Amino acid sequence: MTPAVPGLTFHMEMGPMSECEKRLLFSSDEIARHVERLAREISEDYQDGDVVIVGILKGVFIFLADLVRQLTIPVEIDFVRLASYGSGTTSSGTVRLTHDVELNLAGRDILIVEDIVDSGITLTFLREHLLSRRPRSLRICALVDKGERRSVKVDLDYVGLHLDKGFVVGYGLDCKECYRYLPAIYELIL
Ligand code: PRP
Repeated sequence: MTPAVPGLTFHMEMGPMSECEKRLLFSSDEIARHVERLAREISEDYQDGDVVIVGILKGVFIFLADLVRQLTIPVEIDFVRLASYGSGTTSSGTVRLTHDVELNLAGRDILIVEDIVDSGITLTFLREHLLSRRPRSLRICALVDKGERRSVKVDLDYVGLHLDKGFVVGYGLDCKECYRYLPAIYELIL
């Protein structure tokens, strides 16, 4: 039967998303507790700061939105769009910057906000890129620190959750653009 809504055809051809098995890793309550803690730490550390938060799209959009609403200090917010995974589950090793920061960063306190650190390649690339703008300071906040495939050492200043291994989705994280909307974080059983 032909579906009445054109968009539905696409999803049916792709197969229902429930085909992929997934296991709950971090509930939305647990995530919220850690986001609150991170916001508290950041607010305390930057009492006298001139903070520009730089979020890495797309994965960070939910975490960043929740984090900044818990801050008790004024901040400005900007985004970069970086991608290295394409449709696969491992980093291609090449980071593509398709949207750059628009705010002036010279002499300011940059806080990079990232959803997950895996190989470390994305953050290493962005750190170097933003340091060339001559900020006063640069720190990194990541919601999930996943150690399994770290190939480049990255110093993280604020970490929400630790994970040894697994391909995770939800709360902004995707697999081939699916699952970003889920309110909790799951491990995909591939
Ligand atoms: C994911 C994730 C991080 C990056 C981490 O982004 O959101 O930005 O990979 O991986 P790394 O530490 O191995 O570099 P992705 O390239 O999938 O783009 P997305 O944010 O649009 O999902």
